[in-house]
Amino acid sequence: MQLNSARVVLTGASGGLGQTLAQQLVQHGAHVLLAGRDAAKLQALANRLGSASHICVADLTQTQGVADLTQAAQTFKANVLINNAGISAFGLLQDQTWDTVEQVIQTNLMAPLRLTHALLPHLLSQPQASIVNVGSAFGSLPFAGFAAYSSAKAGLRGFSQSLRRELANSQVHVLHVAPRAINTALNSPAVNALNRALGNTSDSPEAVATHLLNALAQNRSELHIGFPERLFAWLNGFAPALIDRGLAGKLATIQQHAQTPQP
Ligand SMILES: NC(=O)c1ccc[n+]([C@@H]2O[C@H](COP(=O)([O-])OP(=O)(O)OC[C@H]3O[C@@H](n4cnc5c(N)ncnc54)[C@H](OP(=O)(O)O)[C@@H]3O)[C@@H](O)[C@H]2O)c1
Repeated sequence: MQLNSARVVLTGASGGLGQTLAQQLVQHGAHVLLAGRDAAKLQALANRLGSASHICVADLTQTQGVADLTQAAQTFKANVLINNAGISAFGLLQDQTWDTVEQVIQTNLMAPLRLTHALLPHLLSQPQASIVNVGSAFGSLPFAGFAAYSSAKAGLRGFSQSLRRELANSQVHVLHVAPRAINTALNSPAVNALNRALGNTSDSPEAVATHLLNALAQNRSELHIGFPERLFAWLNGFAPALIDRGLAGKLATIQQHAQTPQP
């Protein structure tokens, strides 16, 4: 995908990774349709980015939100969809409400699937198009304390691979991206404390955005960011019992942080 002629629908544009992706896309010469729920944040970002950016306020867990963004993307003549919007919920499943679990699945899995489904006929009518699904290392390395989030991101990985195989003889390319932790507001203080306690590395949104856009420009299919997370994800694919044993040693720490009262 040529970034300088790309017309990109970017969900989660008001968030930490989204704002950085939007800035880098515009620096590459792309036009962006910035989507999110927070109108003030989107407008402030669009003001900084200038005439190459437009906004669409939409809650993607709602039928109307998906319809509004689909309509706006068609009018915008989008040829790239970046499904980046997401939420996280750290906690033991037994302590979480069903509402929380459902919101995580709706936002991280159902919304990108639904938006892709709605926009696919338009993308198939473009000379070249790409769909980028922003997953997580937890989609290949499901983690204790993140049952709903890991389920959603594993589902998004499956969706990406299935759709890529389905579109193999079309001009629509599918890229699945699996970052490890990123320094953004997605992570609560409890998650940041857990990452410090486990010695997990966090990447800057700038570094993740750069990797993602390089992978998009090169028409890559899979991008797993970070070592040793990449190795553990691969190991989990054929020897999950090894990962079960490794994570069992961290369980007490995860349980302790999951039970820390949230501010
Ligand atoms: N941060 C990490 O450690 C990490 C690691 C791996 C993968 N990821 C993935 O990276 C992506 C970006 O995350 P981030 O770190 O940038 O998080 P963030 O700063 O919390 O941003 C999340 C974005 O998602 C949007 N969003 C949430 N619910 C939405 C809804 N119902 N409808 C429409 N938009 C909605 C938010 O928009 P509004 O605020 O405007 O509602 C916001 O723009 C996510 O898919 C996340 O799972 C993050």
